[in-house]
Amino acid sequence: MCGIVGYLGPREAYPIIIEGLKRLEYRGYDSAGIALFDGTNLKVSKTKGKVADLENRVENEITKHGNVGIGHTRWATHGVPNDINSHPHISNSGDLVIIHNGIIENYESLKQELTSRGYTFQSDTDTEVLINLIEDVKTQEKVKLGQAVQIALNQVIGAYAIAVFDKNKPEEVVVARLGSPLAIGIGENEDEFFIASDASPFLEYTKNAVYLEDEEMAIIRFHKGVKIRKIKDDSLVDTYVQELQINLEQIEKGGFDHFMLKEIYEQPKAIKDTYRGRLLRNDAIIKMAGVEDNMKKFLNANRIIIVACGTSWHAGLVAEYIFEDLARIPVEVEYASEFRYRNPVITENDVVIAISQSGETADTLAAIKLAKSKGAFVFGVCNVVGSSIARETHAGAYTHAGPEIGVASTKAFTTQITVLTLIALRLARAKGTISSSDFRQHLLELELIPNKVEKALKSDAHIKMIAEIYKNSRNCLYLGRGYNFPVALEGALKLKEISYIHAEGYPAAEMKHGPIALIDENMPIVVIATKKGHYEKVVSNIQEIKSRKGKIIGIVTEGDTQVKELADHVIEVPETLESLSPLLTTIPLQLLSYHIAVMLNKDVDQPRNLAKSVTVE
Ligand code: F6R
Repeated sequence: MCGIVGYLGPREAYPIIIEGLKRLEYRGYDSAGIALFDGTNLKVSKTKGKVADLENRVENEITKHGNVGIGHTRWATHGVPNDINSHPHISNSGDLVIIHNGIIENYESLKQELTSRGYTFQSDTDTEVLINLIEDVKTQEKVKLGQAVQIALNQVIGAYAIAVFDKNKPEEVVVARLGSPLAIGIGENEDEFFIASDASPFLEYTKNAVYLEDEEMAIIRFHKGVKIRKIKDDSLVDTYVQELQINLEQIEKGGFDHFMLKEIYEQPKAIKDTYRGRLLRNDAIIKMAGVEDNMKKFLNANRIIIVACGTSWHAGLVAEYIFEDLARIPVEVEYASEFRYRNPVITENDVVIAISQSGETADTLAAIKLAKSKGAFVFGVCNVVGSSIARETHAGAYTHAGPEIGVASTKAFTTQITVLTLIALRLARAKGTISSSDFRQHLLELELIPNKVEKALKSDAHIKMIAEIYKNSRNCLYLGRGYNFPVALEGALKLKEISYIHAEGYPAAEMKHGPIALIDENMPIVVIATKKGHYEKVVSNIQEIKSRKGKIIGIVTEGDTQVKELADHVIEVPETLESLSPLLTTIPLQLLSYHIAVMLNKDVDQPRNLAKSVTVE
């Protein structure tokens, strides 16, 4: 994880780097640091804590002047979060400075080797080893910085996005990537350059960006431009400059207190953006190039294996119901982290769907590589355009949700479900497992979902009141059946990750096999009990909870009376098809966890120990 930012050009680097780090704090926020070259000296300031803590530290420690600089916001892997382990790290001579996102796996043996040659280390990090390895190569081989980086990286096992410069040659910054993202922003007249983990830190300065591919490095020189080379053999690579499609307002809070709340409220638009141009109701068709071009593979598939982590895995579980129900294709949903190490049986007749908001999750990426090596066709469902997973898969469909910055995933989940529903419907039509009238009905209902999400959001004030009552609970159960079982898991995940209240999601009927023992008058139980989908059975489950005095919060269909009589509170959502109900029932659960976390004074957008994109396994 970690976020990296750099600047080289005529402006003051400090404000660009600090603001950039704030935008990248979603990637890690346990420590932060900055290195600036002020024309004479290299100045470094770093601290445990957030970027705001770094700003305070800088005030007392260094001057903010300099046209070249690099900065880092950290999610600790090697070495606890403290001032010394924070990046940037400096080489023993004091000449070279580095920021790094990733892990150097063989750092111990490299460290031993360097120690035997007299190098000393201040920190516990793998990154300090890397910068001294680069220095060692540079001195021993008498080569320039770029070459030293290239030779050093060929000795390294692991993952990295790095930026390095030499205080004796500050007009040049060397960057490289393997497994962690790295973008270079190029100023209007190629007279200034920005470096970042994603483009958000430099959006207001330039729309022109180069995304490094894995195993590539670039030498960025003031007034001279960017030269990209392959790390392995030093061969030159063409520089492909892309025009960025993201706007500044998409990455700002826009009047909301938190990104999470903004993103919850963005869902009507995000879902519409996801099906726009794909769902053509008047023609009664679904058009998705990635599916169309690979239709044979989908139709001949023995089964679909879905790989993902966290919330994306929950979207995969919803998809299992949709694909099996509508398209009659067997589906297995796998945690990417288990799948990749399990020696799974994969054949050329399997289709693997990898789901990932960030498109950078290390385990999902590794699962894709494994599936590809066994000959499977791999289809990606990602949000971040041009991300590693989007590039690694054979084909795919973007969710078009726009940037998701709150660490707790919200609009990514509903838009993933939207894409997966479109795919399932398209395949069902092609296979003839859905009638023409059912198909049309699904298209119509899906098109109505954004308005219904809008309506579901109107319960916000009522949900806030419920949050007030239960904010001090120590535990919480979430129950759902069928399509809404994964929503129960997702609701529980949302609550625990941002409010730190212990929560579990269960299939409602499974309650009797254990969790029922937890129920007493202090236990709130959120039950998804929408009209379609085992309604009567869920009502029986609610009765079982009530007779054990549990506090029931029912998520019900508008106009419901039966659950209303039994439950302590109900939150209504509009009626829709059962298969589409997760797109609505999720909304109150997101709001409930949001309000509880705010009332508990928790850091909603940056919950402790978490990071938005998990680029380490
Ligand atoms: C939970 C959450 C995580 C992510 C998981 C996968 O709110 O955000 O559980 O869903 O880390 O991330 P992606 O989808 O980027 O692969």
